[in-house]
Amino acid sequence: MTADIIDGKAFAANIRLKVAKHVTNLKAQGITPGLAVVLVGEDPASEVYVRSKGEMTLEVGMNTFEHKLPADATQAELLAVIHQLNNDPTVHGILCQLPVPDHIDETTVINAIVAEKDVDGFNILNVGRLATGQKSMVPCTPLGSLMMLRDRLGSLSGLNAVVVGRSNIVGKPMVQLLLKDSCTVTITHSRTKDIEAICRNADILVAAVGRPEMINADWIKPGAVVIDVGINRIPAPERGEGKMRLVGDVDFASASKVAGAITPVPGGVGPMTIACLLANTVTACCRAAGLLEPDGLTV
Ligand code: GUN
Repeated sequence: MTADIIDGKAFAANIRLKVAKHVTNLKAQGITPGLAVVLVGEDPASEVYVRSKGEMTLEVGMNTFEHKLPADATQAELLAVIHQLNNDPTVHGILCQLPVPDHIDETTVINAIVAEKDVDGFNILNVGRLATGQKSMVPCTPLGSLMMLRDRLGSLSGLNAVVVGRSNIVGKPMVQLLLKDSCTVTITHSRTKDIEAICRNADILVAAVGRPEMINADWIKPGAVVIDVGINRIPAPERGEGKMRLVGDVDFASASKVAGAITPVPGGVGPMTIACLLANTVTACCRAAGLLEPDGLTV
């Protein structure tokens, strides 16, 4: 069997198109959705992410607000920026790029963002709302993964889903979304016994551990849908000295011979994350304005 490749790039472009259409409609009603991104320090990877988020926000016609603080900014200074954004009616979504420097408490920062503008879906209120089936902001990477799964499989009801990894950002919210869609869900992690056998029982396998190419063909049930959330940079001497390449948590070469469908890295889940961030901002904007929520941009 050779797996179908799930084209996250094309999928994400389609979501951005839908977002842009909704933005046009909102603008016709005098509302321009706005996304504020806060960055503390000069981490090069974070700067790339933030720039790319800003560019895509503009591309879909929304306002972008960037707030850069020096690496030695105090927690109080960061919280003051967040409070100002919380109270700014032109800002519908707020994201503080993680990680923040060690002297700042990440949880305090996340929970300082008012839940209705928390487009990351990391605030404790959104975590609780998602877990109890209430309307919430849904974390972007799991949201994008679920959209691709629904597109591939239609109903997920009754399917065995295995999530590898228990992070607050991906693993745990992914479990909630799969449960909401009536999957039988197992969450596995570094201490799980016989993890391979558990994964081999999965109709849906979501890999989010951050271990390069950990999951190979032996872990995969023939025909399963594999969502690879991992983005790992590994040395690529074949490309020249000091060169690196991106790989997922799944060994794509072997897994794609067994799976029914699989997301590649790069070009799979990655592009969906920013597209879903834009989608969440439009959703937040519509909710703030008391308008009907756009179809197909959230779950
Ligand atoms: N850093 C890496 N990924 C993310 C993300 O999805 N949201 C935020 N806020 N920071 C990140």
